[in-house]
Amino acid sequence: MTQEDPRILELRKMRAKALEGGGAERIEKQKAKGKLTARERIELLLDWNTFNEIEPYITHQGDEMGLLKEKYLGDGVITGYGQIKGRTVYLYSQDFTIYGGTLSEMQSHKICRVMDLAVRNGAPFIALIDSGGARIQEGVRSMGGYAEIFRRNAQYSGVVPQISVMLGPCAGGAAYSPALTDLVIMVQKQSFMFLTGPEVIKAVTGEVIDAESLGGSDVHMSVSGVAHLSVPTERDALEMVRTFLSYLPSNNVENPPFVKTDDDPTRMDEWLNHAVPLDPSEPYIMHQVIERIVDKGTFLEIQPDWARNAIVGLARIGGHSVGIVGQEPAIMAGVIDIDAADKMTRFVRMCDCFNIPLVTFVDSPGFLPGIAQEHGGIIRHGAKLLYAYSEATVPKICIITRKAYGGAYVVMSSKYLGTDVTYAWPSAEIAVLGAEGAANILFKKQIENAPNPSEERKKLAEEYRAKFNNPYYAASTGYVDDIIEPRESRRKIVAALSALRDKYAPAPPRKHGNIPV
Ligand code: HXC
Repeated sequence: MTQEDPRILELRKMRAKALEGGGAERIEKQKAKGKLTARERIELLLDWNTFNEIEPYITHQGDEMGLLKEKYLGDGVITGYGQIKGRTVYLYSQDFTIYGGTLSEMQSHKICRVMDLAVRNGAPFIALIDSGGARIQEGVRSMGGYAEIFRRNAQYSGVVPQISVMLGPCAGGAAYSPALTDLVIMVQKQSFMFLTGPEVIKAVTGEVIDAESLGGSDVHMSVSGVAHLSVPTERDALEMVRTFLSYLPSNNVENPPFVKTDDDPTRMDEWLNHAVPLDPSEPYIMHQVIERIVDKGTFLEIQPDWARNAIVGLARIGGHSVGIVGQEPAIMAGVIDIDAADKMTRFVRMCDCFNIPLVTFVDSPGFLPGIAQEHGGIIRHGAKLLYAYSEATVPKICIITRKAYGGAYVVMSSKYLGTDVTYAWPSAEIAVLGAEGAANILFKKQIENAPNPSEERKKLAEEYRAKFNNPYYAASTGYVDDIIEPRESRRKIVAALSALRDKYAPAPPRKHGNIPV
C-alpha cells in the first residue's frame, strides 16, 4: 500500500481543525442551550450533500486585546454555496462558539465575498445569524466590516432575494443587516434582536427589561414589525427558508418558479357567494376568502401578527406565484392605519422587485381617523402605499369584495393607479364615504331642520346607499372592469394572470424615486 502524501495529510488535519469551531466545550455550551451548531444548520437548510465551503482557513488579523492568542479557522463564520430544491443559493452561517459569532474585519470579508458571488450569479443569499454584533476587540475595523455588509444589503436589494434567519442573541449590526433584507425569520424564545441590550438600556435610560421582552420574537412579530415570520424551532426556521424561496425567482430578471397544482384553475366555489354578510356592518373573515381562492394550502402569510387589519402573503394561483394584499374586516373593520400602510407597502415593493404579480382584496372603510394617527404621520405612511402601487409594474389585479371608501379605494390598487384588471363583487360599496357619514355632511341643514332628524338621516343615507354603495355606479363609469360572482373569482384571476403574463410596462428612466419614508 502506498503511503499518503504528507501534504494531503496536512490538508486533512487542517480540515478537521476547521470543523472544531470554538472547541468542544463551547459547542457543548451551545448544545446545552438547545441550539444547533453553525454547520448542522447548513446541512439542514440545503439539499443533501450540496454544500461547498469557501475560505475556511481565514483567521482574524487583529492583535488587539489578546486576540492573537486565540485564532480559529474560519473566524466565526462559515460561508459558501449549495442548493435548495435544486437551485443555487449562497449563504453564511455564524458560529457562536467563536467569539460569540461576532463580526470581525475578516469575517466581513468572507460574508461580502459570498454576497458578491450571489449577485454575480443571480442566486439568493441567506444569512444564518447568531452573533453578538461587532467584535469589540477590533474596534473600528469591525464596524467598517458591518458598513461593507450593509452597503451590499442595500445595493443588492431587489437584485437577488436576501433572507435572514435569526438564531441567537443578535445585537447591534447583527440586527441591522437583517432589517435591510427581504425576510427576517425568528425562532421563538431563542432569537433576540436589539441595537442595544438590556444592560446598556439600564445604564443609559434606567429602564429595566429582559432580553425576551426587549427583542424576542413576540415583540418583533406583533409590536415592532421588524420580523416577518416566527417559528418554534431552528429546524422550522430552516424549512421556512426553503418554503419561502419556492415562491420567489432566484433574481430580478427571472420569473418565479411554476409549481404544478392539482387544484383545478377553473374551480368555482359556491361558499364565496355567501362569504359577505348582507348586513354591511357585520364582519367576515378575509383570510378564509383568500384560502379558498388560491391553490389549496399555498397561502404563506407574512407578518401575520403585526397590523392584523392588513393581510400580506405569498400564494400560488394555478401554479403561479402571486403576492396577496388585503384587509381583514374582522380586525378593526379593515381600516388602514400607519402600521398597516407600512406593512402593505413593503410587501408590494418586494413582489414588484421579484416579478410576483399582485392580487389585492379590498374591504376597508378608509384610513383610521384620530389625532395619534395624524400626528404619527398617516399622510406620509399612506403615501408610501400609493407610491408602491403606482410604481409597481408587475401584473396587478384587484378585487373589491365590500367597502372601498375614500382613501382606501384609491390606495388599494385602484384602477387609475395602474391596476390592470379591477373586479368588484356585487357586495362592493365604492364611495367617498359611508352612507351615514355622507348624509350627515351633504344634508346637514336638512337633517337638523327635519321634524325627526334621525328618520331623515336614515332616509337620506338610504338614498345615498342606493346610488353609491354598490358597484354599479363605478362600473357605469369604467372604474371597475367587471362585476363578478364571488364564486368565479379564482378562474377570473387565473385568466387575468394568464392574459397579463407578458405585461410590458417600462418606467421612465431615473436614478431612483424618492419614496416618502
Ligand atoms: C467580542 C464577544 C462579543 C462582542 C460576545 N462575545 N459578544 N466578543 N465582541 N461584541 C463573546 C464573549 O466574550 C464570549 O466569549 C462569547 O462571545 C459568548 O458570549 P456570552 O456573553 O458568554 O454569551 P451569552 O451569555 O449568550 O450572551 C450573548 C450576548 C452578550 C447577549 C450577545 O455576549 C452581549 O451582550 N454581547 C455584547 C453585545 C454588543 O453590545 N455588541 C456590540 C453591538 S454594537 P467566550 O470566549 O467566553 O466564549 C455593533 C456595532 C455595529 O454591533 C453598529 C451597526 C449599526
